[in-house]
Amino acid sequence: MSISHQHDVLIIGSGAAGLSLALRLAANGSVAIISKGPINNGSTHFAQGGISAVLAEEDSFESHINDTMNAGAGLCQREAVRFTIEHGPENIRWLNQLGVPFSKDMAPNGSRLLHLTREGGHSFRRVVHAEDATGHALSNTLVNHVREHTSIDVYEDHIAVDLITGGKLGLDHNRCVGAYVLNKNTDHVETFLAKNIVLATGGASKVYLYTTNPDTSTGDGIAMAWRAGCRVGNMEFNQFHPTCLYHPEAKSFLISEAVRGEGGKLLLPNGERFMDRFDERAELAPRDIVARAIDHEMKRLGEECMFLDISHRSDAFIASHFPTIHARCLELGIDMTKEPIPVVPAAHYTCGGILTDLEGHTDIECLYAIGETAFTHLHGANRMASNSLLECLVFAESASKAILQNLEQIPEPDKAPPWDESRVTDSDEEVVVTHNWDELRRFMWDYVGIVRTNKRLERAMRRIHLLEHEIHEYYSNFRISSDLIELRNLAQVSELIVRCAMERKESRGLHFSLDYPKTMDDSAAKDTVLQPEKSKADKQQIKVIK
Ligand code: FAD
Ligand code: SIN
Repeated sequence: MSISHQHDVLIIGSGAAGLSLALRLAANGSVAIISKGPINNGSTHFAQGGISAVLAEEDSFESHINDTMNAGAGLCQREAVRFTIEHGPENIRWLNQLGVPFSKDMAPNGSRLLHLTREGGHSFRRVVHAEDATGHALSNTLVNHVREHTSIDVYEDHIAVDLITGGKLGLDHNRCVGAYVLNKNTDHVETFLAKNIVLATGGASKVYLYTTNPDTSTGDGIAMAWRAGCRVGNMEFNQFHPTCLYHPEAKSFLISEAVRGEGGKLLLPNGERFMDRFDERAELAPRDIVARAIDHEMKRLGEECMFLDISHRSDAFIASHFPTIHARCLELGIDMTKEPIPVVPAAHYTCGGILTDLEGHTDIECLYAIGETAFTHLHGANRMASNSLLECLVFAESASKAILQNLEQIPEPDKAPPWDESRVTDSDEEVVVTHNWDELRRFMWDYVGIVRTNKRLERAMRRIHLLEHEIHEYYSNFRISSDLIELRNLAQVSELIVRCAMERKESRGLHFSLDYPKTMDDSAAKDTVLQPEKSKADKQQIKVIK
């Protein structure tokens, strides 16, 4: 029996972007949030450093804007940067009212103010945080509020497969009217219809073998939007966080940039500092510079990791500022109060994504994208630390206003035919999916990582095409599973990353090519924007419905 759901707004994703949007809409309409696992499984839950906002007296919007533009290496749009930053303080106030337990500091007059920490690229202390587990505190608070609203239905363990548009239904409009969603508890695909659909699906760092991200970051929203006909841009700008813990039992544990913000130094295995050879800001240079410097030193010396040392700070300071990192390192036998922490760079953030305006509108009517999945022109060629959670909050707020303004005028969504499984069978070789998943992530790491060349990109593209062919066959003949849906999206997003990287004939921000090591004059700098072929987008859609 086919199941169909209907709401005013369907939000795909339950991170900072999706949850805060749901809360902003809850009083005025019915909302469905779907999450492909438990509600707090996205990157948001694991965020450490904090949320940037201009709150200190000596700080200014202009300074935060300039720092963001500098980190973005010539590709941030000032209007998007200003918009985001100017809405920062009010969003922090909103979170404060919701009760997020941010770390506080005692002011000279005895009052308690938000404690502000510092991270790379920021000229002032402007990062609001909850110790070193900001995401945990933020996510828990938002989830608790969401659970209180009867107008918000939460569907955990539901993974969106593809969007439903008027074009797909053969109608005379191309509005987005919903999504097909696999219920992982029943293994059946259900239809979710809504007046507005919002992609808040996070990033795509899982395309890389080593990443700080949880398993959810498979670029599903970007792939779905592309298949539905939306433009996607700047996918070559994959941010590698310089300091992921290097330990065989903790593959994706982050050592927050705030450790460097509070005085942590990067060391070679012989104890020598090296960052000042690469940038005058040393450990607090933007991430692209620090990650490339670490990668360079590891390759030059043939070492498997570098070291991050904050043991000169007192035990009490470390334990109170970094309790999570301290405890996790201790569990693994590393005492950061006494010794340096072994670190390596790992894929961390997707700067590009689905093209949107400042209210989250995409190219398709009634389809929005917010959070890490969107390309809002805020981050340019390199995101500055702690600007991502800020973007999630600010764009959730602006999208909510746009959605509420039009809710009454949008007609009830058209009926959609149920998902057709009549021509597929159960897979007999799940191992193909696992194998392809591993292969893809490994060659993306080797060929499309921190340092790129034309030859490596071509090699990667050849392999992606082979995989896409195999995945397509598999997808057409067998009943879909969560792993297969994600693999199909990972391959799609990898193709978009490589295509964007091939189009950029220079090195800029996070994209560094040995074949084009120079950066073009900033006046010639432009985004890489890919437009799906209309005929291909339609074919993809017809295939899904069968
Ligand atoms: P996410 O929080 O990633 O949530 C995505 C949601 O979409 C998940 O619920 C997932 O289940 C769901 N989803 C995805 N695909 C589907 C699908 N097909 N169907 C249904 N559901 C789907 N940024 C900062 O600004 N400050 C920090 O301190 C910071 N620290 C970080 C530390 C770590 C370890 C990591 C990994 C990232 C950090 N970032 C930080 C980046 C920031 O956390 C993310 O960019 C941000 O949380 C993204 O939020 P989001 O809501 O867009 O997506
Ligand atoms: C960190 O704590 O280093 C992560 C901050 C970010 O990604 O913005």
